[in-house]
Amino acid sequence: MKFGERLKDSSKRHGSKIILALDITGPQSSRAERAEALLVELGDSLAGVKVNFQLLLPQGLQGLARVAEICSEKALPLIADIKLNDIESTNLETVELLFGSGFDAVIANPFAGHNEGLSKVIARARALGKGVILLVYMSHAGAEEGYALKVGEEPMYLRFARKVREWGADGAIVSAKSLEIIKDVRRTIDPWQLILSPGIGFQGGEADKAIRAGTDLAIVGRSIIDAKSPRAMLREFNQSISDS
Ligand code: XMP
Repeated sequence: MKFGERLKDSSKRHGSKIILALDITGPQSSRAERAEALLVELGDSLAGVKVNFQLLLPQGLQGLARVAEICSEKALPLIADIKLNDIESTNLETVELLFGSGFDAVIANPFAGHNEGLSKVIARARALGKGVILLVYMSHAGAEEGYALKVGEEPMYLRFARKVREWGADGAIVSAKSLEIIKDVRRTIDPWQLILSPGIGFQGGEADKAIRAGTDLAIVGRSIIDAKSPRAMLREFNQSISDS
């Protein structure tokens, strides 16, 4: 089964279009434990889980073994948000380490290019049933300075959306705050390729609007994990999406 199908399957089984960003801050010694507790509490109502440097740097892959185990027990796809952007040898070694430690997909930066950049990473992921998701339009203000630059008549993000299709990546990351761009990307990539959108809640985007524009799954971090009741907040997100 392709990574995207596993993600959609998990979304259906758990009745959720939310990928939880486990961006735990605070004392390093308790981050993994907090992440594990959140997964035990919320895992059955999530589509997937995303880990960023807030956990990866202090814990390392070995320190995240239990996080990966819980995700695997709940058949929750686990995404490494490292925005991979290096030469092929480094990229390949990086994904071998991640995929060998229970990660199901990696977010990569198409600026690395195909030839000697990401082509073999995508092929390796495909061979293992893992996923590669490409950054197409980021959610912060500075995204305009790179992802919206015109190359000839074409904005960079449209070029990157075409790369998602041409390279056969599993999906695109597009800011939930940029609804017109989500629509453009949806029209450009193939129907089986997913759009995942961060920038929700804390950064001002709204999950239901992004989904109506063409996003498949919403990425949410601080609004849920730092809420007084993460469970109640997740329920609210799931409800607002299913009502929309
Ligand atoms: P919040 O707390 O803002 O967390 O809900 C969002 C999470 O997603 C990451 N993020 C992005 N990741 N492309 C990405 O690949 C983006 O455009 C983007 N915007 C936010 C952020 O680092 C955090 O983990």
